[in-house]
Amino acid sequence: MNVLITGGNRGLGLELVRIFHENGHSVFPVVKRKESLVFLSETFTDRCFPILTDVSKDESIVELTSQISLHTHYIDIVINNAGIPGKTYEIEKISTQELMDLFNVHCLGVVRTVQATLTYLRNSENPRIINLSSRLGSLSKMSSGEFSKGKFSYSYRIAKAAQNMLTLCLDQELGDIPISVTAIHPGKLQTSSGAYDANMRPEDAATNIYSWLLNSKRDISGRFFEPLVTEMNW
Ligand SMILES: NC(=O)c1ccc[n+]([C@@H]2O[C@H](COP(=O)([O-])OP(=O)(O)OC[C@H]3O[C@@H](n4cnc5c(N)ncnc54)[C@H](OP(=O)(O)O)[C@@H]3O)[C@@H](O)[C@H]2O)c1
Repeated sequence: MNVLITGGNRGLGLELVRIFHENGHSVFPVVKRKESLVFLSETFTDRCFPILTDVSKDESIVELTSQISLHTHYIDIVINNAGIPGKTYEIEKISTQELMDLFNVHCLGVVRTVQATLTYLRNSENPRIINLSSRLGSLSKMSSGEFSKGKFSYSYRIAKAAQNMLTLCLDQELGDIPISVTAIHPGKLQTSSGAYDANMRPEDAATNIYSWLLNSKRDISGRFFEPLVTEMNW
């Protein structure tokens, strides 16, 4: 399969690149820094086609489309993994800039990546979009009081909730093609963006996602899962 993974140079994204590559697939990690491009080219010598672009910018749409076209005419799986953490936990301290930055990467970044890859997904026999959401984007969990007060940023929770609605909108529009669109919470990961209660290695999360995805059927579209653990409420 051809698998495009945004933010593929560290954290969960790098582990996803690694596991798909180890299992014989071609990987297209999307990275925003030149050093990451060099790092990936040196680490994976074949079947790895790093793409340099910043998904927080509109130019990324053309940049993604044109760089993918150098290597293939189809993409089977797009994994929208790129993300940034929020910083501020109190309404009186948060800046609208922080809210816009997180919304831009987590939600508009997915919009741009889907716009850029749709032609390639249409050329796949079994096209799938996987959006890296979070338990923290779940309105159900938030309203049931699952998250301790003062422990999580406004910006991250709002951005992931917006991304969840985008997943449902995409499923509604693209489901007939059919392109499957699914949101996942990968677990509480020990990465630089990890929460205070992180308890899982990103390589273990990538293994779970890989095996869940390979065994999943079309009916995962329009749904929210913690792979190999549970289906989640929106
Ligand atoms: N960590 C957790 O516990 C957890 C839980 C639930 C969901 N998630 C979600 O899972 C995903 C991966 O999380 P993580 O913990 O692995 O994050 P991470 O270690 O902070 O890595 C984030 C990755 O995204 C890239 N990125 C950020 N902005 C980008 C942009 N504008 N364009 C292209 N790439 C960009 C980063 O590139 P640079 O290296 O250049 O900055 C980096 O490769 C995120 O969407 C996160 O919200 C994480």
